[in-house]
Amino acid sequence: MTRENDQVAFWRGEFGDDYADRNDASADALASRTAMWRRMLDPLVEPPRSILEVGANIGLNMRALAAITRADLHAVEPGAKAREILSSCGALPAEHVVDGTAAALPFDDASIDMVFTSGVLIHIAPDDLLPACREMHRVSGRYIACAEYFNPVPVEIEYRGHTGFLWKRDFGGFWMDNFPDLELVDYGFFWKRATGLDDLTWWLFRKAGTDSDA
Ligand SMILES: C[S@@+](CC[C@H](N)C(=O)[O-])C[C@H]1O[C@@H](n2cnc3c(N)ncnc32)[C@H](O)[C@@H]1O
Repeated sequence: MTRENDQVAFWRGEFGDDYADRNDASADALASRTAMWRRMLDPLVEPPRSILEVGANIGLNMRALAAITRADLHAVEPGAKAREILSSCGALPAEHVVDGTAAALPFDDASIDMVFTSGVLIHIAPDDLLPACREMHRVSGRYIACAEYFNPVPVEIEYRGHTGFLWKRDFGGFWMDNFPDLELVDYGFFWKRATGLDDLTWWLFRKAGTDSDA
């Protein structure tokens, strides 16, 4: 049984609106995201020319990427309040902010250089995870990245008093096990105490045969 509708409804509803309202776009938060993306893109000779964030919320990653790359930025976000803030933040054209979910991305096959999530795969119900990743893999022309909560084995944890909305696992292993064409470019851990980020484990993958960075 899929929980996707529950899961997306949760983010489209009051919980998602409150999350967008309390999300922190302070200078410190943006500096942390900028450092995060400098590190994650560091192995690449050329940064991606186009980037899609799935589940962008108010666009902290989009703002950081706008500051350090010239990529054509796109965002998919189911929450209306978050989309409103993101559309007016100036990091990307308002028409590049679209209503949608990971399960159905309104983009052509291999049309975006890098597709990524940050704190979003953790919120997709286990039964829906593979279809969502297939869709991101379909749209990616070259790179896939994610920064998520790690646990060696899949485990559900309570999320702000709610059950059924947060799961941790080895998302890097999930990508590699299900998509054999993905090659590991780099991975790492952002420790909350040192980075101001949220104890995120990250991976950057490249589709095999797309490896000329020059
Ligand atoms: C914890 S926030 C992370 C926001 C942002 N990626 C960041 O790093 O700041 C999770 C976001 O994912 C969105 N989301 C939840 N389920 C989704 C789904 N199935 N597809 C796409 N986005 C989703 C939520 O609306 C919310 O904006």
